[in-house]
Amino acid sequence: MSIHSAPDRCDLLIRGGHVIDGTGAKSFAGDVAVTADRIDAVGDLQNTHAEEVIDARGHVVAPGFIDVHTHDDHLLLTNPEVTPKLSQGVTTVVVGNCGVSLAPWSADRPPPPPMDLIGSEQAYRFPTFESYRLALEQKPAAINAAPLVGHSTLRCSTMDNLDRPARHEEIENMRAQLRSSLQAGAIGFSTGLAYAPNRAATPDEVAALAGELQEFSGIYATHMRDEGDQLFSALEESFVTARRAGCPVVLSHHKCASPKMWGRSAESLARIDAAAEQQLIGLDVYPYTAGSTILMEDHIEASKRIMVTWSTTVPEARGRDLADLAVDWDCSLVEAMRRLQPGGGIYFMMEDDDVERILTHPKSMIGSDGLPHDEHPHPRLWGTFPRVLGHYARERQLFTLEQALHKMTGLSAKTFHLADRGVLQASAFADIVVFDPDLIADRGTFEEPEQTAAGIHTVLVNGTIAWQRGIGTGSRTGRILKNPKTT
Ligand code: ZN
Ligand code: CU
Repeated sequence: MSIHSAPDRCDLLIRGGHVIDGTGAKSFAGDVAVTADRIDAVGDLQNTHAEEVIDARGHVVAPGFIDVHTHDDHLLLTNPEVTPKLSQGVTTVVVGNCGVSLAPWSADRPPPPPMDLIGSEQAYRFPTFESYRLALEQKPAAINAAPLVGHSTLRCSTMDNLDRPARHEEIENMRAQLRSSLQAGAIGFSTGLAYAPNRAATPDEVAALAGELQEFSGIYATHMRDEGDQLFSALEESFVTARRAGCPVVLSHHKCASPKMWGRSAESLARIDAAAEQQLIGLDVYPYTAGSTILMEDHIEASKRIMVTWSTTVPEARGRDLADLAVDWDCSLVEAMRRLQPGGGIYFMMEDDDVERILTHPKSMIGSDGLPHDEHPHPRLWGTFPRVLGHYARERQLFTLEQALHKMTGLSAKTFHLADRGVLQASAFADIVVFDPDLIADRGTFEEPEQTAAGIHTVLVNGTIAWQRGIGTGSRTGRILKNPKTT
């Protein structure tokens, strides 16, 4: 425990909990004092007088959780209470992942899949990153957001035809848009190289754009070209691109997603460790053996089961298995999927052992990849963080609570350059979760995904109580977190 002088008074005192500070250090009994939006002190504060006291006996007091992989770009504007996240203890979301961001958008066509994952045509109304940031700042959400700029968004805004590599002047145009986004605070750049609007981008094109990041201490986050049979070449491409661009890379939702690759996470993690000796690499993972995205025929073969999350043509298919629909319609899985397009699905395409091995890797951070606009969403949207703490830490004992929390707080803030977040220390921002370590659990299932977590007692965002005993307080104290080079 670090030494702090105990203040005489503070606004809010969280008394008598087990403090886990987010650095991975062991828990200790202590109090946390908050004044305005910051933590004053952590330790034995029995002589500190407070306006308001939260009794945390029997509870853990931890930094607010950081969801490093989200698609909440539009949700923050339409549902500023952000209940699926706040109810889990999440106080910051990284948005703009997988090459898909709402801004900067200047295309004169409707957003093609997978851009529709985060919102419909009307959602794409921000010609500059700054206009998006200002919209969020004018109507703050309950939690903080740190936005990335997506490559597919830039390509849609710049290119007439997405099925080819960008030409020199198009690359220059995208670089200029990325640069002004970074100047306006974006924390980095993302790709979704497995998706149609991004797939034709060459490594040269990606490296040229990512080259803008260095000056802003920006992050390159990549949904790689392949997570199945070509996993290893996709990893290599990601490492090389980031080295050429001179920036850190975060490998999004790392997984082994095809029968041929099942069981090979030991090798993929070894490749990551080897490359990490020469460059900065992070990775995120969600605690489930099923993924979710738009309906994609190339996922059919690799999946043990596919569940429909939404369909424009057959809305009543949501929540149903593709295999059952194919029986009803007396057709193949491919044909059934074609009838449902456009739509989304949950793909059961991973093995338990791989998920657990990736979760326990010291570099892995927790990211939900939840899809808030899906009508029948994957339960990760509501359950990711309590599932890691309840199922994986308490029940499966994959790691200690301190290690589990580090993966969703201190490590995440450090990797994404979120200053003064992710730790419970004097002068850090007061994003704080108080939870019951014996009760914390995800309650959603694939059948009934939209359930709040058990065991979350209180959540503070920038010093204000945003969630208490199962209900949001209506506060809107979230901020837009910017890269370290913007003021
Ligand atoms: Zn992705
Ligand atoms: Cu994603």
